[in-house]
Amino acid sequence: MQNFDFYAPARILFGKDEEKRVGELLKPHATKVLLHYGGGSIKKSGLYDTVFSSLKAAGLSVVELGGVMPNPRLSLAREGIELCKKEDVDFILAVGGGSVIDSAKAIAMGVYYPGDVWEIYMKGRMLQVKKSLPVATILTIPAAGSESSGDTVITNEEKQLKYGYGAPALRPLLSIINPELFFTLPKNQIANGVADMMSHVFERYFTNTTNTDLTDRLCEAVLGTIIKNAPIVLNDPRNYEAWCEIGFAGTVAHNGLVGMGRQEDWGCHDIEHELSAIYDIAHGAGLAVVTPAWMKYVYKDNINMFVQFAVNVMGVKGSFRDPEGLILEGIARLSEFFHKMGLPSTLGELGIDGANLELMSKKASRIQFGDEYPLGRLKKLYWQDILAIYKLAQ
Ligand code: NZQ
Ligand code: ZN
Repeated sequence: MQNFDFYAPARILFGKDEEKRVGELLKPHATKVLLHYGGGSIKKSGLYDTVFSSLKAAGLSVVELGGVMPNPRLSLAREGIELCKKEDVDFILAVGGGSVIDSAKAIAMGVYYPGDVWEIYMKGRMLQVKKSLPVATILTIPAAGSESSGDTVITNEEKQLKYGYGAPALRPLLSIINPELFFTLPKNQIANGVADMMSHVFERYFTNTTNTDLTDRLCEAVLGTIIKNAPIVLNDPRNYEAWCEIGFAGTVAHNGLVGMGRQEDWGCHDIEHELSAIYDIAHGAGLAVVTPAWMKYVYKDNINMFVQFAVNVMGVKGSFRDPEGLILEGIARLSEFFHKMGLPSTLGELGIDGANLELMSKKASRIQFGDEYPLGRLKKLYWQDILAIYKLAQ
């Protein structure tokens, strides 16, 4: 096991009606709040009115900025930064999913950054943001895990780039997760969210680090919980108890715990971000296509890890003398699960043809812009490897 530093301070308020006390919860930390939200689902569901009344009842001033789109845009984040500066906002409340929360984090750090906020995403690990406005969230879709992560992913729509950035300062101060707020999700968004949270576990689970018994079991528990409960919420979207399991799993999948002491991979995420950057597809749908292809391409580099996945996660039974057979059955079962969730299984189903595969491979490894930085850790992926994975996903 590797050394690690685990710090996940986001306070999680979980369960029915918690959003009603958001004003009282923010009051000790805020005077003027930016209420940030997406394209309208919170107005339709009545959540907007609940939140607005609660903030007002607590005596807080409210400035609002809606209109965050899935694959949140840099232009709106820039607008939010200017708004916060002009209005002297001292707190951001994101009400929505990963896109709204990530946009809120971009605004929160952009307010204090002397240059253009996109520079932070470009510099990545070379820069550690220390100061940002505090952010709280009310989650409306369990998926990205941004409610407890220190990460933000933004799309630069002019340059067709989608980059992530992470820093401890970006962890939300508090997040409210009321699974009842998930009842209005359409089936495709339920499925996208499930694929994303599973991928957050896979990115940590598939590792060459050994002596990771505890986190192996934690990963398997989270995946098993999702695999059991996802079909229930898909077929019965008002099933509160099953949503509780999915909502909790989505947060645990990405608050960092299940990856502690292990070398994490993140190849699939970077490969998917190229798809979203050019084709504006849903992140989870892209992951459902990329992940089985990635597994088929890399499993030979760590047969034991993939046998463990097939047996402990996908419930495959068979002869240990035929590890490859077990693995391929495990991958097939994962594809079947995604299919039953209504997720796509090929690039073609996402409406993506072969035209940009080479370009996306070169953008992903950054060789397109100069030096090459291979993706992934379990197996290092150079642009030719990434291209091979896209081709397997066609
Ligand atoms: O915009 P509205 O009208 O609210 O509609 C949204 C949106 O169209 C809708 N929706 C959300 N809650 C709803 C609802 N519709 C009905 N009822 C509800 N209760 O769902 C659509 C998708 O929302 P979005 O926020 O885009 O989904 P998600 O949470 O999956 O976020 C995806 C984004 O998160 C990033 C992804 O790259 C992607 O841009 N990620 C962020 C991470 C992080 N910050 O740690 C990690 C992830 O790996 C991921 O990359
Ligand atoms: Zn993700």
